[in-house]
Amino acid sequence: MEFAELIKTPKLDNIIVKQPFRPPTEGTLCITSHHLIFSSRRNVGDELWLLHSMVDVVERKITGNGGIVILKCKDFRIIQLEIDTNEEFNNVSNSIEWLSNLDEPRLLYPFFYRPMFEIVEDGWSAFCIEHEFSKIQLYSDSWRISQVNKNFTICQSYPESVIVPKSITDETITAIANFRCLGRSTKANKFSDLYKLHNQAVLLRSGQPMVGTNSKRCKEDEKLINTVLGSGKRGYIIETRNQNLAQLARTKGGGFEPEVHYPLWRRVHKHIDRHSTLLDSLSKLIEVCNDTLCPMDKWLSRLESCGWLSHIKDVLMCACLVAQCVDKEGRASVLVHGAEGMDSTLQVCSIAQVILDPDCRTVHGFEALIEREWLQAGHPFATRCKHSAYTTPSARTREQSPIFLVFLDCVYQIYNQFPCSFEFNEQFLCVLFEHAYASQFGTFLENCVKQRKELNFMKKTVSLWSYLNRPEVLAEYLNPAYEPNNSVIWPSVAPQSIIMWEGMYLRWTIDQSINDKISKTVEQLKTYQKELRSKAIRLRRQLLELAVINT
Ligand SMILES: *[C@@H]1O[C@H](CO)[C@@H](O)[C@H](O)[C@H]1NC(C)=O
Ligand SMILES: *[C@@H]1O[C@H](CO)[C@@H](O)[C@H](O)[C@H]1NC(C)=O
Ligand SMILES: *[C@@H]1O[C@H](CO)[C@@H](O)[C@H](O)[C@H]1NC(C)=O
Ligand SMILES: *[C@@H]1O[C@H](CO)[C@@H](O)[C@H](O)[C@H]1NC(C)=O
Repeated sequence: MEFAELIKTPKLDNIIVKQPFRPPTEGTLCITSHHLIFSSRRNVGDELWLLHSMVDVVERKITGNGGIVILKCKDFRIIQLEIDTNEEFNNVSNSIEWLSNLDEPRLLYPFFYRPMFEIVEDGWSAFCIEHEFSKIQLYSDSWRISQVNKNFTICQSYPESVIVPKSITDETITAIANFRCLGRSTKANKFSDLYKLHNQAVLLRSGQPMVGTNSKRCKEDEKLINTVLGSGKRGYIIETRNQNLAQLARTKGGGFEPEVHYPLWRRVHKHIDRHSTLLDSLSKLIEVCNDTLCPMDKWLSRLESCGWLSHIKDVLMCACLVAQCVDKEGRASVLVHGAEGMDSTLQVCSIAQVILDPDCRTVHGFEALIEREWLQAGHPFATRCKHSAYTTPSARTREQSPIFLVFLDCVYQIYNQFPCSFEFNEQFLCVLFEHAYASQFGTFLENCVKQRKELNFMKKTVSLWSYLNRPEVLAEYLNPAYEPNNSVIWPSVAPQSIIMWEGMYLRWTIDQSINDKISKTVEQLKTYQKELRSKAIRLRRQLLELAVINT
């Protein structure tokens, strides 16, 4: 298949484009293999570039002659193209529809994109496992790197090198992998400085144990889980499904750890919604957010009925519970899992780390968290983010789900409560959201390390981190109010504290540029404060000199 075959009308004059916060504009539309480019003759340099892969749904509205192509984007923006002849209307809408639904990853833009900047810090190697491991070694020598998953033989969705307890052999790990769902055995998370002085609590995540209806056991699994506890310690298993679902899973071969065989662990069920429930909820939220004609007495109840804020609250609450076990309850170890351990498990483990670990609140630490807890841990980005809020319910599959957006939203909630504790700003979170759905970079493509390796990503595409971490780009995403704080931050999960993320869901409805102004002002005030400080130091020095002269 050639792109040229799909692009029926590569260039089209005199079309009218409507997009948020702009007056309708007449100009020229170009369709290239990966972009839709619109430029008006009036404002040179004011071009619209849209990746085809950013288009969620193409809708057509037929008018007398020609029609309106409505592009509903994965970032919730809506763009309308008014085209006044039938043939061109059909050609353009069909082309965009095909180009936005390419299934073959090799045809996607990251494989064609050539950066216009020099790569200083290569994002592909910035977060390698050896680096992570060296951090763990700083405070514990009871872990090792294992190549047990070489060639992805025991777990398709995990990386080839994994960090495991020293006391556990590769044979044991293979046995455990056969017992855990999708071969996802437990994985330790680093715990930085805060914990190194204390008897180490470990945060583990895994897939469900394949206990089934006849209560299968796995001695190796029991051994591993009990080994990490340390003598005399107890741990918590946080199960992200409710009791019924977990029980039901047993009829399909899954299940949970029976207390008799894991006596030192206490199981707590904290249900978190997943699958298409989340996408339905997001869809409703986006609909409500753009309905500016909604009467006042309906607005809040509609916001409530889409359930989005409750989902956010559930994840935050579960993550707080995990953090609390690790930090408070006698520094207990925690194992988190749901069914496959690729969705809610990752949300909970990563939010808990944002709460506990100040390093995760820096730019580099947050990127490392996304690498470690999402990309390396096999969150299936390509499948989950194939569609966004605008797909019709009938076109949705169970697998499409804004799991990653829920995570970013939870981080935003914490950021909102602790605006000085994050090195990055809100726009940084928005940018990550956008790139997860459509990007020129290879970072979020495909579903796991194995698939990325097969496509030779590191050689063929550029990492998002290589781009973001350049000082001139990063400047835009830094929080001017950042004051590093080494303590654990406990977000409130009271309903009053959970807010709708305006910068995400209302940004095409209400102009958000006021926030940029506020952030500029804060930056100026900070510079001014610095100047005042150095002035004060100078004055103090002069005063001292005067005092010396006088005596
Ligand atoms: C529309 O597409 C057809 C090919 O399918 C092409 O022959 C025709 O020239 C196109 N029309 C316009 C106006 O670009
Ligand atoms: C919001 O709704 C209006 C019509 O009510 C529509 O014209 C516009 O494209 C929508 N915008 C977004 C971003 O949803
Ligand atoms: C890795 O596995 C693939 C099939 O899954 C196989 O074709 C290949 O030969 C294996 N490579 C090595 C080095 O074992
Ligand atoms: C750090 O955060 C904690 C918890 O919010 C707060 O009590 C403390 O004052 C903060 N410390 C600094 C130096 O900002």
